[in-house]
Amino acid sequence: MALLPILRYPDRRLHTKAVAVAVVDDSVRQLVRDMAETMYAAPGIGLAATQVDVHKRVIVIDVSEDRSHLLALINPQIVERDGEQVTEEGCLSVPGVYDKVVRAEHVRVRALDPDGRSLEFDADGLLAVCIQHEMDHLDGIVFVEHLSRLKQARIRAKLEKQARITA
Ligand code: NI
Repeated sequence: MALLPILRYPDRRLHTKAVAVAVVDDSVRQLVRDMAETMYAAPGIGLAATQVDVHKRVIVIDVSEDRSHLLALINPQIVERDGEQVTEEGCLSVPGVYDKVVRAEHVRVRALDPDGRSLEFDADGLLAVCIQHEMDHLDGIVFVEHLSRLKQARIRAKLEKQARITA
């Protein structure tokens, strides 16, 4: 297993649109293991492959309190959505920034699991938020892009300044 470096906003690579996984093979399972380890170590409740500069449609999520319910979704699709919820979101690629985003309250998700089997399930609340947030990453969208342009400019400036100090 390996900890993978996480890209930080405003890195342009975060805007890459990920491609579907053609075959769920050992390399994909290895990616899932490495992403899970990276997410737990961060610590975070979700991670998309885009954030570790792998542009394949793979996400890992664990919203359980004891961090024991890993959900790994390959080629996830939202097939139904309804309702609305507003949650304060954060992102491992945008450290220190939290803001409110409107998402669907309920989603029905179709995906493959790491054994290549089809899954279909309903999610609501925090899990639904997390799935929508991570799936946005696969389309090259970082959560701050749901905020106003003014807020985005401020966040960009703040993170660019931090990057200069760290470098
Ligand atoms: Ni994120």
